Amino acid sequence: MRAVVVTAKGGPDVLTVTDMDEPDSGPGDITVAVAAAAVNPVDLKTRSGFLPIELTYPAVLGWDVSGTVVAVGASVTRFAPGDNVIGMIAQPAHRFGTYAERVVADESLFAHAPTGTSLVHAAAIPLAALTAVQLLDKITLPAQSTVLVTGAAGAVGRTASALLLIRGHRVDALARESDVDDLLALGSRRVFTEPADLQAGVYDAVVDTAGVVDTIDSVHDDGAYVSIEDGDQPEPQRGITPGKSYVNEDGPGLEQIAALVSAGALSIPIAREFGFAEAPQAHSLLAAGGTRGKVLLIP
Ligand SMILES: NC(=O)c1ccc[n+]([C@@H]2O[C@H](COP(=O)([O-])OP(=O)(O)OC[C@H]3O[C@@H](n4cnc5c(N)ncnc54)[C@H](OP(=O)(O)O)[C@@H]3O)[C@@H](O)[C@H]2O)c1
Repeated sequence: MRAVVVTAKGGPDVLTVTDMDEPDSGPGDITVAVAAAAVNPVDLKTRSGFLPIELTYPAVLGWDVSGTVVAVGASVTRFAPGDNVIGMIAQPAHRFGTYAERVVADESLFAHAPTGTSLVHAAAIPLAALTAVQLLDKITLPAQSTVLVTGAAGAVGRTASALLLIRGHRVDALARESDVDDLLALGSRRVFTEPADLQAGVYDAVVDTAGVVDTIDSVHDDGAYVSIEDGDQPEPQRGITPGKSYVNEDGPGLEQIAALVSAGALSIPIAREFGFAEAPQAHSLLAAGGTRGKVLLIP
């Protein structure tokens, strides 16, 4: 199979396309013919060595995948050949990531692909949406809470905002000037572009996807603060215990997310599609910042 591999730690240019053997499959595995793999910030951080992950080179990066099941192991119960699926693989824990023509992994990592979006675009959903769902599970919110979401125009921030609104909460956003109209249209009450403009002690919670730790000042006493960013956490204070959330593989959780997408309640925009051979450009685009929507790699 063709796959995008990295052969050493480095910049986008270490990404190359190569032929490699298909991964072996076990009795609980499904084999997926890949429609698309999404590019996530974690892929850039893994490639560059920013994250302390020891890769065995050549390594196939990639967490997000969509595609069609072409084979199932003897003990697989939820899928059959021909099913369209989405999945998230915590790449460092696996021999192969998703930047490949075939992905082989346990069926518990996958869900049936949602309707109402193309199979290619569905690759944008798993990591961002699972992250958003799981980070919100880390905090307890009274009904109709008021929540500040930082990085609200990003993949995770936008999805977390949408989930909060679906659950009946009020959302304020911290984002860039160019995102203001889009986020107001999505249902944010107010959009701030400068942390200094935030009022102290007013929010029930801050959901931080952009690493703006000072926003904890805007949480009221005994409120909640949760971050997914790699940087430092704010100190515990005023009855607030800052939490970190790290995304976990969860196929059944993805089924629930797919249902929301199929119902039209949730969507993740697409920025651009690249062929496998353009993987260096795909990584460079995401690294440059300012991208809105997911960057996809198509075999
Ligand atoms: N812990 C976990 O399990 C987990 C899971 C997923 C992601 N993450 C991490 O979470 C972060 C966000 O991921 P993502 O996929 O949502 O990335 P993304 O789509 O690039 O979104 C990040 C958003 O935050 C914005 N932003 C950054 N700094 C900002 C600031 N000071 N003020 C306002 N907006 C700001 C960015 O704007 P610009 O593009 O204009 O800079 C972008 O819109 C990444 O660092 C990623 O590695 C962690």
